[in-house]
This record gives sequence, structure tokens and C-alpha cells, in this order.
Amino acid sequence: MTLLLDRTNQQALLDLKRVLVIDDEEPIRRLLGYMLQSHGYETVLAADAKEARTRLEETSFALVLCDVNMPGESGMDLVRAILNQHPHTAAIMVTGLDSSVLANAALDMGAFGYVIKPFESNEVLINVANALRRRRLEMESRLHRENLEDVVRTRTMALQQALEWLERSEKELRLSREETIQRLAIAAEFRDSATAQHIQRMSHYCELLARRYGLSNERCDLIRTASPMHDIGKIGTPDHVLLKPGKFTQDEFNVIAQHAEIGYRILAGSDAEILNVAATIALTHHERWDGSGYPRKLKGEAIPIEGRIASIADAFDALTTARVYKPAFAFDHAVDLMSKHRGEHFDPELLDVFLASLGDIKRIHEAYADRPSNGLSRES
Ligand SMILES: [Fe+2]
Repeated sequence: MTLLLDRTNQQALLDLKRVLVIDDEEPIRRLLGYMLQSHGYETVLAADAKEARTRLEETSFALVLCDVNMPGESGMDLVRAILNQHPHTAAIMVTGLDSSVLANAALDMGAFGYVIKPFESNEVLINVANALRRRRLEMESRLHRENLEDVVRTRTMALQQALEWLERSEKELRLSREETIQRLAIAAEFRDSATAQHIQRMSHYCELLARRYGLSNERCDLIRTASPMHDIGKIGTPDHVLLKPGKFTQDEFNVIAQHAEIGYRILAGSDAEILNVAATIALTHHERWDGSGYPRKLKGEAIPIEGRIASIADAFDALTTARVYKPAFAFDHAVDLMSKHRGEHFDPELLDVFLASLGDIKRIHEAYADRPSNGLSRES
């Protein structure tokens, strides 16, 4: 509605044919008024600058025809003020002085024409018609530019809103994906009473090691998000084995060791990079640097870096967590045990990164400590 009114007003301004004649000599004022009226213009007459200002406050004019020399405020000063305060009004100066200096000053100021007394009727009418045509063209050009700017502004705003919406959606999608993964991982771990805190510690230890080892931000984020699924294959381990108190027989160990392959089969083959990283971690988090791990007895750098990282994080968390067959080892004792397996169980370079990051490891260990009500779990 506002836009419609604006356009209506703009059109009315464009079509305006009202002329304000300002001259202190009454005969000239009347003559100019008569000439213009007889050619279809609406005219208002003013004898001096003061009266002209009053008329300009009362209504809009397409054009002012203004005498240069008047008692009081000069025509030049008056027209300068009019052009400044009423940008839609054009101006033609009328003067008895044929001076190129004055004419140039008037044109420089923004007047569209300059008429010298005594004037012919045609001379005035041609000047007025030209001035109104030029005013119309300039107004149309300005309106067109303003409309274009409006369109650009509106579209830019719409684009910004779309981008913000996309960013919000992307963030929500990422958070929802990470939360779904965590909850699935917790569901799998729930069977042997592993805790939500174990998932969190594992995730943060893995991310910390990946960053300190120098992997890319993108890889570190993937490892942080994917590592909670490392034991998801336990959903395929029978209860009588998974929940058995005390030590496993070799056969039972063979059954539980299958959780790595089962997890891999659940997660592998996806188009999503996060699930492929999760599959790699599930398959290789029990492999050992010296080739004595499971399920495939991979050795050294044949074990993907994600698996080597998860192996350290998982083993350290198992040592510092109470199990059905052992209490939680103290932080420093667990670190000592880890150090003894440098180059055997663990990638020596990665273990050095781990040992150099103990301050942060301890912060994670304490920030996500198990709550007293949580049950005990078995390392697997
Ligand atoms: Fe495991």
C-alpha cells in the first residue's frame, strides 16, 4: 500500500504543471502569468522572496520563474534555497541584465534556463517547455535508479535471509547428526553398562590426539564425531558372554573379539564420510602396533591412524574406569602402564603425543568423570 501511494505521488509530481512566477514588477508578473495560463499552465504569482517561500510551503511547483533583481533577498539566493529544499522543482531565472557571468552562475547553481527582459512570448514558452521536459527526464531517471536500488536492496536482504536460514539448518542438521550418533553409541554400550561419560571421554581424547598429531580440522571433527561408535558391534555379542563376570575363556574372547568386525559390517559401505571413519575405527581400535591385536592382526602403519588414535583413547579410558574385575586405576598409574606399552600396544609417536598432552587429557578425564550410580563394565 505504501509503495502504491509512493508511486501515485511520484506520478502526480511528474505530471505537475504548476508554475510559481516571482517578480517584484507587477506588470511583468502578470504578463508572465497570463502567457503561461493561456498555454495550459497553472500559475501562482509572488511579489518577493518572502511571499514565494509562503507559496512553496502551501503547495508543490514543477517550476519557478524567478526575477534575479528584487528588493530584499535576491532571486539567486532564493532559487539556490528552492533547488536545495525542493529537489523536484525546476528553475528559470528572469533578468534585465544580459550577462554571461550571471547566466553561467545561474546554470551552475542548477537553474534550467535564463530569460532576458524584454522577452518574447515564444522565448519564455520554449524555455519553460524545455525546463519541464528536462525536469521530467531527470525525475524519471532518478526514480528508475531508486527503484533499481530498492530491488537490489530487497533481493540482497532476501539472499542474506536465505543464507542465514541455510546456515541455521546446516548447524541444526550437524548437531542432530552428532546427537543421533552419540545416542546410538550409548544404546549399544548400554548393554554392558558402559556410560555416556565413556562415550564423551573417548570422543574428546580422540579429537585431542588427532589435533595434537596435526590432522586437518575436518579430519579431527570427523574423528570426534565418529569415535563414539567404536563398540557399536557389541550389539551382536551374546549377553552370556558380554555380561559374564570374571575372566573370559579363549572361546568367549573369540566371540567378544567379533564386535570389531560386526561394528565394521554395520557401518561400512556408506556414502557418508563420517560412517566410513566410524567403520574404520570400529574395525581397528583393538589392533596393536606390534601386530598382536585383533581382529586382523594389522601391524604398524598398516593400522589406519584413526584406529591407532582410538586404541590409545579406549585403552586409557578402560584403565582409568572401574570394571567388574578391577577398580579404576589412578590417573598417574594408568599413564605409567600406557608408557610401558609404547611401541608394542601403541603407536610410539602417537603415544608420545598422548604423554605430551596429559594436562588436557586430565581435564577431559575429570570433566566427564563417571557418576557414582553408573555400573561397571568390562574392557573389550
Ligand atoms: Fe571395543
